[in-house]
Amino acid sequence: MLQQYIDAIESSNIVSRTDIHGIITFVNDEFCKISGYSREELIGADHNIVRHPDVPASNFKRLWKTILAKQTYKATVKNRAKDGKTFYVNTTIVPILDEEGEIREFVAIRYDVTKEMELRMRLEEKEKELEALNRSLEERVRQQTRKLQELNRWLEERVREEIAKNEEKQQMLLWQSRFASMGQMTANIAHQWRQPLTELNLTLFNLKTSVESGEDPQKIQTLYNQSRRIIGSMSQTIEDFMSFFRPDRATSTFSVEQSLEDALSLVSKALEKKEIEIRIEGDREMILQGIPNELTQVFLNLFQNAMEAFDDKTEGERWLRIHFSRDQETFAVIVVEDSAGGIPEMALEKIFEPYFSTKSSSQGTGLGLFMSRLIIQKSFRGSIRAFNSLKGALFIIKIPLNDAKEPKEPDDV
Ligand SMILES: Nc1ncnc2c1ncn2[C@@H]1O[C@H](COP(=O)(O)OP(=O)(O)O)[C@@H](O)[C@H]1O
Ligand SMILES: [Mg+2]
Repeated sequence: MLQQYIDAIESSNIVSRTDIHGIITFVNDEFCKISGYSREELIGADHNIVRHPDVPASNFKRLWKTILAKQTYKATVKNRAKDGKTFYVNTTIVPILDEEGEIREFVAIRYDVTKEMELRMRLEEKEKELEALNRSLEERVRQQTRKLQELNRWLEERVREEIAKNEEKQQMLLWQSRFASMGQMTANIAHQWRQPLTELNLTLFNLKTSVESGEDPQKIQTLYNQSRRIIGSMSQTIEDFMSFFRPDRATSTFSVEQSLEDALSLVSKALEKKEIEIRIEGDREMILQGIPNELTQVFLNLFQNAMEAFDDKTEGERWLRIHFSRDQETFAVIVVEDSAGGIPEMALEKIFEPYFSTKSSSQGTGLGLFMSRLIIQKSFRGSIRAFNSLKGALFIIKIPLNDAKEPKEPDDV
C-alpha cells in the first residue's frame, strides 16, 4: 500500500532523499534525467551539487532553518544541471522523523517548472521593455509637443510680424498712389483753373480800361469785387485738393453723394473739357460708414481711368454713369460705367494687381485699381469687380450697409 504511494509519487515527480547533513542517499530516474548526473555520481554527494550560484546563501539558511525545525519547506528553486543548464523546480522538502521524533532524513519532492519560469521571465522582460518603451515614448511625445508649441509660437510671431509689415506696406502704397494721383491731379487743377483764369484775365482787362477811361467808381468797384470772387473760388479749388491729400484717418458716417461730389469737384472741369457727360442715377442718399476721403479716392481713380480711356477715343458717345442702389437693404451697390470702349480682354484679369498698367509709365502707375480694391475691401469690407459692358468698362462696388443705415422717414411706409 505504502509502496504504491511511493511508486505513484516517484513516477510523476523528481524525488531525492538526503541524510540529516544533506548527503544524497536516494534519487529517482527523473532526478537523474533533469540534473544530468548519473545515480552513481549523485549518491553520496552533497545535495548542493545542483545548487545554482545565483541563488543567495540566505535562501539556504532559511531552508535549513525550516527543515531542521521539523517543518516542511516549499519553494520554487533555481538549480543547475551537470551541463550548466538552469532548471527550475517547485520543491517540497519534508523531514522524516523516527519513533523518538528525531529527524531521520529529508525527502524532497519536486516538479519541473522551467518552462513556466522561462515564460514568466520572458514575459517580465517584455513588460519591462514595454514599460521602458512607453516611458521613452511619453518623453518623446512630450519633447515633440514642446517643439511643436515652440514652433507654433514662433509661427504666430512671424505671422504677426508679417501682418504688421504688410499693413505698413499697404499704408505706404496708399500714400504712393495718392502722390502718384497728385501728379494727375495737378493736371486737373490746371483744368479747374483754366476758366476762372480766362475770366479773371478779362475782368482785369476791363478794370484797366475802366480806370484809364475814368469810368465811375461804382463800376470799378464791381469789377474789383468780381476779380476777388474769382480768386476766392480758385483758392477754394486748391483747398479742395489739399483736403483730399490730408491724411484723414477718421472714420465717420457720410453719404455717398458727399463723397461723389468731392471727387467730381476735383475733376469736373477736366471732364467738361473732354466733353464727357456725367450721369448720376439712383439713390444717392445712401449712408456709409468709413473714411470719406478714401471713397473719394476710389471715385477719383475710376474717373481718372475713364478720362484716360476716352483720350484714345475720338468718336461715339462720351458719358460716365454713376448708379447707386441697394441690394436687399444689406448692400450699397455703386456702379461706375463709361462708354470709352472697355478694358482689353487680356487685361481684365490683372487690372487689380499692383503696378499693372497698359499705359506709358509717365501716365500710369498701375496702382489706382489696386488701391481702390484695397480701400473697398479693408476699409469698407466690401468688394469691387470689373466687367465690360456694351459701351465700355463697368465697375461694381458692393459695400455692406450694416447698422449705419440712414434713419427712415415715417412716410417711407
Ligand atoms: N475705364 C477703363 N477703361 C478701360 N481700361 C481701363 C479702365 N480702367 C482701368 N483700365 C485698365 O486697367 C489698368 C489698370 O488701371 P489702374 O490700376 O488705375 O492703373 P493705371 O491707370 O495707372 O494704368 C489700366 O492700365 C487700363 O488698362
Ligand atoms: Mg488709373
